[in-house]
Amino acid sequence: MEFRRVFVWASASLSVLASTQLPKVDLAALGPIYQSASNASYQAFADAKSQAVATLNEALANGANTYGSLDNQTTSFSVSVFELTSDEPLFDFHFEAPGLNGSLTKGSLSDETIYRTGSLGKLLTMYTWMVHIGDSVFTDPITKYIPELAQAVPDSSNPILYTNWSEVTIGSLASQISGIGANFHVGDLATPYIGGPSPSEVIPEAVSLGFPPVNNDSIIQCSFYSYDLPPCTREQLLNGIIHHPPVYPSYTSPVYSNIAYQILALAYEEITGRSIEEGQLEIYSELGMTSTTPTAPGSDANAIIPYNTTFSAFDYNLGLAGPSGGQYTSTKDLATFGRAILKSTLMPSYVTRRWLKPVTFTSQLLNYVGAPWEIQRLLVPANSIINASHFVDTYSKTGDVGAYSTFFGVVPDYGIGLSVLAAGVTPHTQISPVRDAVVQIFYQAAEAAAKEQASKAFTGTFKASNINSSITLGTDGGPGVVVQEWISNGTNFLQNPYLASYDDFRLYPTELSMEADDLIYYSYRLNFLASNGEPTEGDFWSYNNDYWMFLDALIYKNLATDNFIIGFDEDGIVQSVHSTGLRVTMSRS
Ligand SMILES: *[C@@H]1O[C@H](CO)[C@@H](O)[C@H](O)[C@H]1NC(C)=O
Ligand SMILES: *[C@@H]1O[C@H](CO)[C@@H](O)[C@H](O)[C@H]1NC(C)=O
Ligand SMILES: *[C@@H]1O[C@H](CO)[C@@H](O)[C@H](O)[C@H]1NC(C)=O
Ligand SMILES: *[C@@H]1O[C@H](CO)[C@@H](O)[C@H](O)[C@H]1NC(C)=O
Ligand SMILES: *[C@@H]1O[C@H](CO)[C@@H](O)[C@H](O)[C@H]1NC(C)=O
Ligand SMILES: *[C@@H]1O[C@H](CO)[C@@H](O)[C@H](O)[C@H]1NC(C)=O
Ligand SMILES: *[C@@H]1O[C@H](CO)[C@@H](O)[C@H](O)[C@H]1NC(C)=O
Ligand SMILES: *[C@@H]1O[C@H](CO)[C@@H](O)[C@H](O)[C@H]1NC(C)=O
Ligand SMILES: *[C@@H]1O[C@H](CO)[C@@H](O)[C@H](O)[C@H]1NC(C)=O
Repeated sequence: MEFRRVFVWASASLSVLASTQLPKVDLAALGPIYQSASNASYQAFADAKSQAVATLNEALANGANTYGSLDNQTTSFSVSVFELTSDEPLFDFHFEAPGLNGSLTKGSLSDETIYRTGSLGKLLTMYTWMVHIGDSVFTDPITKYIPELAQAVPDSSNPILYTNWSEVTIGSLASQISGIGANFHVGDLATPYIGGPSPSEVIPEAVSLGFPPVNNDSIIQCSFYSYDLPPCTREQLLNGIIHHPPVYPSYTSPVYSNIAYQILALAYEEITGRSIEEGQLEIYSELGMTSTTPTAPGSDANAIIPYNTTFSAFDYNLGLAGPSGGQYTSTKDLATFGRAILKSTLMPSYVTRRWLKPVTFTSQLLNYVGAPWEIQRLLVPANSIINASHFVDTYSKTGDVGAYSTFFGVVPDYGIGLSVLAAGVTPHTQISPVRDAVVQIFYQAAEAAAKEQASKAFTGTFKASNINSSITLGTDGGPGVVVQEWISNGTNFLQNPYLASYDDFRLYPTELSMEADDLIYYSYRLNFLASNGEPTEGDFWSYNNDYWMFLDALIYKNLATDNFIIGFDEDGIVQSVHSTGLRVTMSRS
């Protein structure tokens, strides 16, 4: 089956992760090992930029790289890497496929060129939900908001054929674990679909493939993906959904579902009193996403339309299926969107933190699902002393529709994100060779820039004024900020009986911060490990490797010895180090 037939695709895992054996994982607690680089001018980013240009040009010349084959004739793409602290992209690259001449309404491809998003639009739908409604309704049953589904509950006396809608919550629909099925009249082989056989050939072709003949009257004559049928009405949609058997009971195992977001959009309308499209337009306007729309932009828009609108499905209106696969956007607007997510511009940061979390595992070791995030865990080298890596999680969403394929991801640990938008003859296969090459380069650059920033900020000795207490900090081949020496009131504190069995002491950021006395204070936590931080081996479930169980350790009069309050000046240089447990403030000497 061609992708173009079905406009959605669950994400494929990064090919770099497809190794059979995992590398050694560093024991630092989950989360960033450094504060993310707050300045794009680090050499690591400049190097990454030129490296990425060279890598992509080479892949285009070869028609492939290690992540897949690349169409250098008939599929254009735009890729952008953005960061939190600047509106200037870290990386911006556009490939105009020679065979797609005439596809650009304004003659050239740029960060303002509009592509169709496909299922990436689910993320814009959920963001709109999170901003306007939030997640406090996530445990509400959907029957509270959709009367037709409430009425359908008696049907669920046959749980194999009918979903028990009173057990389907808003949160389960938002995170692909409602157990309901994938589609209604999208890619249905018994109805005409874009790119499929002519309407009169649909059933004969299916029958020739071995599907049984169907009674013509029994097919609901509507579709969300056909030029030959009218769009489905709410009644047709909900009727179809109710008669579509579930895959699992809710909260069993994830199933990629387009109808889940169509149902959510109806619930959004019920809760807010306006359509999801109105809500989305308000958000795009608030954020200044001037190229982004829930339905096709006007004919004067700066867009990429491979060949023609029939081939590309550029302006095909998905109707009530729009919330699961509609939307139009550019790499510039996706960067604006990504910064708004990471900076919690339109929602409280505690809600953002809750949203940027997995809800369910998948059958893949390194892929998880959120609402509606497709979460990939990537192992990035972090410790050259013991040759270990640490996990960096990307919260992403992919999409496919017509001649378009898209990827968007944010990396909270680095304060960066990226988008790849492709359009043309083979858009889907164009994404991973571009994305994965850029990810490899920029994640390592973000790691290096953050480490360089930490090295500049921390390296030095900090002393108390009134007592012989001091601490010496720096960076080395390991992760985090290494504690090289710690004297407390004339005693070598690292040699006290509680710490003497450890030899690896490292500080990690926690994101708790405040401003006072012209300094910005961040709370850090000290991990202490033995054997240079070598993980315990042999015990499969070794809790010795689970550092989160050891945080907030060694309490002295209710304050923890592993807690440090670090004061940064306006240049980002550490001027004071306060040990909470030891009640001492040490200043840069
Ligand atoms: C470090 O680990 C990687 C992945 O496990 C392995 O391929 C590599 O050979 C190791 N390098 C050293 C110096 O041990
Ligand atoms: C980034 O660093 C450069 C060079 O050190 C400096 O000129 C610039 O002001 C910094 N920018 C920010 C936003 O801190
Ligand atoms: C396109 O890729 C093919 C390999 O698939 C290669 O032979 C050709 O030289 C490339 N064309 C250009 C213009 O780079
Ligand atoms: C695209 O290029 C081909 C070959 O040069 C040319 O025949 C065709 O007219 C061009 N199409 C457009 C729309 O510019
Ligand atoms: C549907 O689920 C609700 C909640 O668990 C339960 O009370 C009800 O009996 C179920 N209905 C049927 C018909 O199984
Ligand atoms: C099936 O229905 C369509 C649309 O209503 C109609 O055009 C077509 O002639 C019907 N086909 C048969 C075999 O009855
Ligand atoms: C659209 O473009 C495709 C691919 O070039 C072509 O096969 C088709 O005939 C075109 N359709 C229209 C309506 O121009
Ligand atoms: C430092 O140690 C001395 C000697 O043990 C003790 O008398 C004093 O109270 C300690 N002072 C502080 C601030 O810890
Ligand atoms: C502070 O204590 C350390 C460790 O006991 C010792 O080496 C150093 O000489 C002391 N410094 C002063 C100024 O007393």
